[in-house]
Amino acid sequence: MADGNSAPTEVAPPGVNINVPHSARIYDYWLGGKDNFAIDRQVGEAMIKAIPGMRYMAGENRKFVHRVARDLVVNEGITQFLDIGTGIPTRPNLHEIAQGHKPSAKVVYVDNDPIVLVHARALMISNPAGRSEYIAADIREPRSILDDPALRDTLDLKQPVGLTLIAILMLLSDADDPWSLVAELRDALPSGSCLAITHPTADFNPDEVNAAVAAATGAGMTLVARTKEAVSRFFGDWELLEPGLSPVSAWRPDAPVADPQAAYYWAGVARKP
Ligand SMILES: C[S@@+](CC[C@H](N)C(=O)[O-])C[C@H]1O[C@@H](n2cnc3c(N)ncnc32)[C@H](O)[C@@H]1O
Repeated sequence: MADGNSAPTEVAPPGVNINVPHSARIYDYWLGGKDNFAIDRQVGEAMIKAIPGMRYMAGENRKFVHRVARDLVVNEGITQFLDIGTGIPTRPNLHEIAQGHKPSAKVVYVDNDPIVLVHARALMISNPAGRSEYIAADIREPRSILDDPALRDTLDLKQPVGLTLIAILMLLSDADDPWSLVAELRDALPSGSCLAITHPTADFNPDEVNAAVAAATGAGMTLVARTKEAVSRFFGDWELLEPGLSPVSAWRPDAPVADPQAAYYWAGVARKP
């Protein structure tokens, strides 16, 4: 029983390890969520010490999710999405934005973190005209995602798909060859499909970003900041839509942004010819 002086004991949902930091929970902490544990807050704070604008960055990344979901539906005619590295539900979720513009839109969410699975039900509250599904899977095994019955039952892979890889690829090391993994996903999608990516970079502020990466890797996490050139290779031969690979805040902003490079992410959207 809490004695009023010590922090209440944290109880882990089944399958969730609260002794090691997890990216989904740290990101939830930065966004002001409640689904994080002491170890996540500790590493999250160490990273904020390195990048004082970390919470702003997370917010700018979320705003990109909202803009890109809307743009893909409204401007590119995309009505089905595959979102890998979904994270803990944060409203509005991608399907809520997409279905706000096209009620029949379908979204398949994928994440490999047990804490996201615990909350997956919130991701599956779809507009009745559309559908949203959740698959517990790892992007390092693209085939297992593409062949999953829930995906096959929800998405028509003969029709264009919006593949969204938002703030996930930095969690894969170069040794995982994330470029080949993304290429396998791209190859499975038909012409007219779109790929949206955000990825943290040290290009704008090497000192802060390298210090944050050191804080994360020192805590046993994998976190890789990548250059514009390395991020652009994720798109293969797909055609980058205007304005190209940009600082995340500068990708089709809804309002002018004072300093587009204050959020250290590259963001881009490309279409399969
Ligand atoms: C920083 S969060 C991003 C959440 C959301 N995409 C957004 O940008 O708002 C990264 C997510 O990727 C997930 N993730 C990390 N590695 C993964 C992997 N190998 N396969 C699937 N998901 C992964 C994490 O569990 C986490 O939920």
